[in-house]
Amino acid sequence: MGRILKFLGIGVGVILGLLLLAIAGIFVNAQRQLGQRFDNPAQELTVDVTPERVARGQYLATAFPGCAGCHSSNAAANPPVLDGTLMADLAPLGTFYGPNLTP
Ligand code: HEC
Repeated sequence: MGRILKFLGIGVGVILGLLLLAIAGIFVNAQRQLGQRFDNPAQELTVDVTPERVARGQYLATAFPGCAGCHSSNAAANPPVLDGTLMADLAPLGTFYGPNLTP
């Protein structure tokens, strides 16, 4: 009886040890991946503002009514006013805003 209990104890100990090792490995790997840094410098971008481009932008922003759902304080306004709005306050996860798209 004592021998069986001893072997059982060793077996449980080995399993717990392996489990602990696996958890430590997952933790170390996660820390390594979360700590990665990437170079992604902001790009210089200049765009000439032409009446055609402004008209095209207005068309793209207003032709699809769905934009107002996240970007307007009054989604029912016609024509849409994309002045930005609070989308969701999911504290403590975060607060999400549809940004103001007007110039
Ligand atoms: C489901 C909600 C949702 C819809 C629908 C949506 N947007 Fe957005 N939009 C967002 C959110 C949220 C951001 C901010 C993202 C960020 O800050 O990373 C954003 C950002 C933007 C930006 C960048 C603004 C800035 O100042 O950087 C533009 C431009 C934009 N949206 C245009 C549009 C257009 C055009 C449409 C319709 C075709 C549209 N969005 C539909 C949620 C939405």
